[in-house]
Order: sequence, then structure tokens, then C-alpha cells
Amino acid sequence: MSGRLDVQIFSVCAKLPQNGTTEEMIINKAHETKMPYSSTESIDWFAIQDIGEKLRHLPHALTEGLNRTQVTRDFVLGRDVRVVPTAALPAKPGLASREGQARLLHDLASIELQAMELAVRTLNEFPEAPRDFRQELAEIAASEGEHLKLCLRALDSLGFRWGHWDVHLGLWNTVGREDTLLDRILIVHRYLEGSGLDAGDSILRRLTGVGDKAVGEAVKVIVTEEVGHVLFGSVWFRRVAEAERLDPEKEFRERIGAICRLAPRRERLAREARRLAGFTETEMDELERHFPPLKARGEKRP
Ligand SMILES: [Fe+2]
Ligand SMILES: [Fe+2]
Repeated sequence: MSGRLDVQIFSVCAKLPQNGTTEEMIINKAHETKMPYSSTESIDWFAIQDIGEKLRHLPHALTEGLNRTQVTRDFVLGRDVRVVPTAALPAKPGLASREGQARLLHDLASIELQAMELAVRTLNEFPEAPRDFRQELAEIAASEGEHLKLCLRALDSLGFRWGHWDVHLGLWNTVGREDTLLDRILIVHRYLEGSGLDAGDSILRRLTGVGDKAVGEAVKVIVTEEVGHVLFGSVWFRRVAEAERLDPEKEFRERIGAICRLAPRRERLAREARRLAGFTETEMDELERHFPPLKARGEKRP
């Protein structure tokens, strides 16, 4: 979980001759040269660029991932929209405007897409993980796919389309091939998805009274179901730690600081949602030790 530069993902832009639009492709040269896979294997699923096609092929990717018995790594990640660094994304308009709500849905869609890809990636990288863990993880990947569809439908209802804005790969780049299973559970399901609970809580408050009905409903479904994803992380973090004769609280405390530095959080802790998602008070206090409440830090809420 240390430096992520070794992920070896970089992007190139290519002009499509038919319509002149710019398409962003993510190419992993190491994979191209060393690990050719047949078109029937799930590894090719990561390279699918069209978001609708990727969703349609998710069941196949899950079957392949669940049946995998050997570690598979070095993925080609495809996108049909332009990928830019997180800092290069334009400022977000306020949620009172239609455009602001559409931008929110677009950002959420990008997050759900990465969450879906991360779950399938873990299936491929940890074939030795407990069978129940892998089965539940496949269900989470399917749930992320449903969240993605919800976002795209609500975006469409506002008159906007996927690709209207650029996207980032901030979540995908937070994990690395050197992660242990315990790292991966902590990073993806407890830290990234846990931070999603905090953000969801804030978004729902900000949408109150100003949001389009379809937007509010989509966000509410996602926020509610994400509690289960984070709970999955909390339960399996403890199970895996104990199976390795490690103390879960100590492991959380020792690992969380590095993750916080890698992907800084912005929102106030949604303590109630996190309690439901299996966080102990000690763990939440530890998170706040790295990220004191915004007011104390003198920052403005985005
Ligand atoms: Fe989700
Ligand atoms: Fe999730």
C-alpha cells in the first residue's frame, strides 16, 4: 500500500475519426508486453472502454474472477471519457443548480465505476481469500454496478450524459499490487468506502430542499447500501486479522495513518453511519486524530 507509482497506468488521448471526439484510453504497457490474455478471460473486462458494455459484461467478469485459482495482476483499464488528475477537474458548481446536481451524479458514477472495478480486481488478485469473502465481494461488485446504473439514469433525467465532464482514477490508484488482503480490505472497504459514508451524509444534507427528486433518491439508495459495503470491510478486516493471529485494533491503528496520507479525507465523520458499518469508537477517534473536524482545521466545507 506504499507508493502507487508502480501501478504503471498512464493515459493517452486518441481522436476518433468518425466524430472527432476525444477518447481517453488507459494502457498498461507492462500488461501489453508480458501478459497477453485471451478474450474469454476477465482480464479483458478491465480494458472495455464503453461504460454500458462494461456493465453488460460484469456477470462474466465475476464468474471468471470467482473461478480464478491463480493470482492475476497488471490490468488494462479502459475509459470512454477523458481521464485527468483529480486536481485538474473543474470546480464543482453548487448543488442548488441543475448543472451542479448533474456534476455530482457524474462524479458519483465515476466513483461507482471504480468501486466495481476494484472489487473485481481484488477477486483476481486474491484467489486464496476465504470463499465466503470472495462470494460477498462479488455481490458488492454487482451492487456497485447497480449504483452506477442509478447514477447514469438520474444523470440522463437531468438532460446530461456520461462524458460531459472529465473523470479521475483517484480510487483505483490508491491500491497497489503489493497490498496484502488486509491492506486491500482496509483501503477499499473501510477507508475509501467509509469516506464515502461521510461524503454521502454531507451530500444528502446539502441536497435537502434544493435537489431534483431523482437525484435525491439515487443518492439515498447509494448511501444506504454503502453502509453494508463498509460493514463487509469491518467484519472481514477482523476475521482476516484474527486468522493471521493479529490484533485488529492494533493493525487498524498502525496502517491507517499511511492510507490517510495517500488519500486525504475531506468530510466530517458520519459517526452514526460508521457505527452501523462496524466502526468502533476507538477506530473513529483514530481517524479523527489524522483528520480533526473541519472547523478545528479552519477549512471551508467544499
Ligand atoms: Fe456504490
Ligand atoms: Fe460500495
